[in-house]
Amino acid sequence: MRLKTSLLKESKHILFVVMEHICVGWTTADELYSCSEDHQILKWNLLTSETSLIVKLPEEIYPTDLHWFPKTVGVKKQAQAEIFVLTSTDGKFHLTSKMGRIEKSVEAHKGAVLAGRWNYDGTALITAGEDGQIKIWSKSGMLRSTLASQGSPVYSVAWGPDSDRILYTSGRQLIIKPLQPSAKIIQWKAHDGVILKVDWNSVNDLILSGGEDCKYKVWDSFGHLLHCSLSHDYPVTSLSWAPDGEVFAVGSFNTLRLCDKTGWSYALEKPNTGSVFSLAWSADGTQLAGACGNGHVIFAHVVEQHWEWKNFVITLTKRRTMQVRNVLNDAVDLLEFRDRVIKASLAHGHLVVATSLQCYVYKNWNTPLIFDLKEGTVSLILQAEKHFLLVDGAGLYTFSYEGRLISSPKFPGMRADILNAQSVSLSNDTIAIRDKSDEKVILLFDALTGKALGDGKPLTHKQEVLEIALDQCGPSTDRKIALIDKNRDLYLTTVRHLGREPKICKIGSMVHSMAWNDAANILCGIQDNQLTVWYYPSVVFTDKELLPKTLCIKDGSEFRRAPQVLNYIGTKVTLRQGDGSLVYSSVLPFPALLHEYSISARWEDALRLCCYAKDQSLWACLAGMAMANRELTTAEMAYAAIGEVRALDTVFLASLFPSKESSLAHMLLFSGQVQEAEAAFLQAGLIYQAIQVNIDLYNWERALELAVKHKTHVDTVLAYREKFLQKFGRKETNKRFLQYSEGVLDWEKIQAKIEMELSKERERAANTSVRSSVASRR
Ligand SMILES: *[C@@H]1O[C@H](CO)[C@@H](O)[C@H](O)[C@H]1NC(C)=O
Ligand SMILES: *[C@@H]1O[C@H](CO)[C@@H](O)[C@H](O)[C@H]1NC(C)=O
Repeated sequence: MRLKTSLLKESKHILFVVMEHICVGWTTADELYSCSEDHQILKWNLLTSETSLIVKLPEEIYPTDLHWFPKTVGVKKQAQAEIFVLTSTDGKFHLTSKMGRIEKSVEAHKGAVLAGRWNYDGTALITAGEDGQIKIWSKSGMLRSTLASQGSPVYSVAWGPDSDRILYTSGRQLIIKPLQPSAKIIQWKAHDGVILKVDWNSVNDLILSGGEDCKYKVWDSFGHLLHCSLSHDYPVTSLSWAPDGEVFAVGSFNTLRLCDKTGWSYALEKPNTGSVFSLAWSADGTQLAGACGNGHVIFAHVVEQHWEWKNFVITLTKRRTMQVRNVLNDAVDLLEFRDRVIKASLAHGHLVVATSLQCYVYKNWNTPLIFDLKEGTVSLILQAEKHFLLVDGAGLYTFSYEGRLISSPKFPGMRADILNAQSVSLSNDTIAIRDKSDEKVILLFDALTGKALGDGKPLTHKQEVLEIALDQCGPSTDRKIALIDKNRDLYLTTVRHLGREPKICKIGSMVHSMAWNDAANILCGIQDNQLTVWYYPSVVFTDKELLPKTLCIKDGSEFRRAPQVLNYIGTKVTLRQGDGSLVYSSVLPFPALLHEYSISARWEDALRLCCYAKDQSLWACLAGMAMANRELTTAEMAYAAIGEVRALDTVFLASLFPSKESSLAHMLLFSGQVQEAEAAFLQAGLIYQAIQVNIDLYNWERALELAVKHKTHVDTVLAYREKFLQKFGRKETNKRFLQYSEGVLDWEKIQAKIEMELSKERERAANTSVRSSVASRR
């Protein structure tokens, strides 16, 4: 990926000596405004390549910063969206119309106003001054409050993603201050020289800073350093996040850099610009403009972006052209688009490309399906095998690969503009979205209807969730979601749980990135800097002690700093290392094959595969898969192969249980599914055993409740309860139990009753097997 830049031969702004104040801001992706010390406001039209003078400002106004009022999401033409704030060295800011008319000038600071920024919904404006003050203003320019006051100039400010905090510079320090007065301020030393520019991205919540120490840095919003650049030759004078938070640009003297969100540099340009004082991306993220110290405005767009899938490599060679290369035979196809490419995605045998006006879907390279888009700012494309999801400023839309709109989930407080691939996930049947207003919550939707799943209750985790991913295979009733939380723990849970509280089980820790395989429910992730493959993560629901035995941990010594999983297609995992280089790691095909055998109940084939592969982790997977499918014979053999005596006993015992129903219930108990086991016993009419399950777990109230409801074994519960209390030298205090206590309990009578239920079960089972053997002889 690199920047393709363009610069006019002559600067349109009139250069004095060296400009310090020159700034830029986009109105649309094709139109930019710039203004500088020459008092001119210029408009740049990229379609016609024309530059026109909008207005010459009064002589006393030397502009310092320019920021357009935010476009209201989903509403295109709105009069109020057509103003911008212009700050100036005389201590004022000016609300200025698109025609260049100053609607209002406000005395704001002593000395120059150095920065002015609208918040995300345009309800507030923040200004920062040479006088060290930071002030908040209403939309119409009324002073709301002075947020901070310090001894040194504030060079740069940025709003937090929810417009509830601001970030600003204070010499070598960075400060995050919440608007709410009582909330905690975060302050830290960030650079070894005065900090000149900051930016904060609303999608990834990451902070950029750059300054006179000639470095740029990436921080999380708690002030933890994520990346520090090498020292440049000149101060870093500007930086700016692309709106989707995937890349950012950095400006310095005769220097323009394009960087990945993790900090490493894609490309370096050395244009003849002087210092780049201000950088701005168009809302669709396709264009970058820089205001240069020599009076020029530099334009750039990103090219040579790559997408890979199986044997295809696709490259954006120009703004409207892609090259498709088949690496098997080196065949090359060119794809041409009418408009600029904004986003693309390649997976599941389809290429989806969003341009500024249309969506193209390719299955082969010569006949794309094309349909029009409502908003021209697609910020995210996700693909599943059956359909894909487009996200733009206004919402989320599921489309079939035939171009039919399938659904469009909505929820209260929806902000589609801040969703990214970590906070949304798509499978054939489900859409999952991490809720921004409460990051512990994951909203789940049916992909076909767009309605909330089940009873509409979202999934709630105990910690804030950073990343989510739905598995891609198997029936929708078994759909699972993996999540990484704030503590970097990895959890797995089901998404369709039929009203029961879902079990959220931990399957890993120190996990930094993850991806599901496209063809089997195998998960890979970076755990403690090592590539870990969870061959059968769902085993945690049947026998969690098997989980560690089903992992494949690849030695991480080959990876450099902080690798990220990009995808996991077939047997190939693609990783991006901390320095930006790609590495590939391959996973054996056997686990995927084993999944296939298990889904189609081909247990003989599964056993043969495990014998052949001689891999303990495969045997462990098979044991788990067989248990989950109540396939006792296979489970026994698999457990034996990995020397698991603990489970062997249970499997063996379970197979001894007289009836199928009770062995099923025991299997459920073994895997910790108590409620399910109880339900299975009750369904089979094995009331005593259902009660005993609860007695064994000291679920006294439930045991009594069952006994009372089924009018049997009340004395059994009371007898066990009495024994339990005696053991701990305690007296009965529970009202329910006192109510039912009825003097002396007869253990002999109880034993007899228990024996009766058990023998009845054996007899019934015997009758069944006699019947079936008679039937088979006929
Ligand atoms: C997903 O949808 C595709 C296309 O309809 C289908 O071929 C595939 O079997 C589905 N996968 C699952 C796991 O349901
Ligand atoms: C088993 O069969 C015998 C004889 O046919 C019958 O008397 C008995 O009730 C049956 N028991 C059960 C539990 O079905």
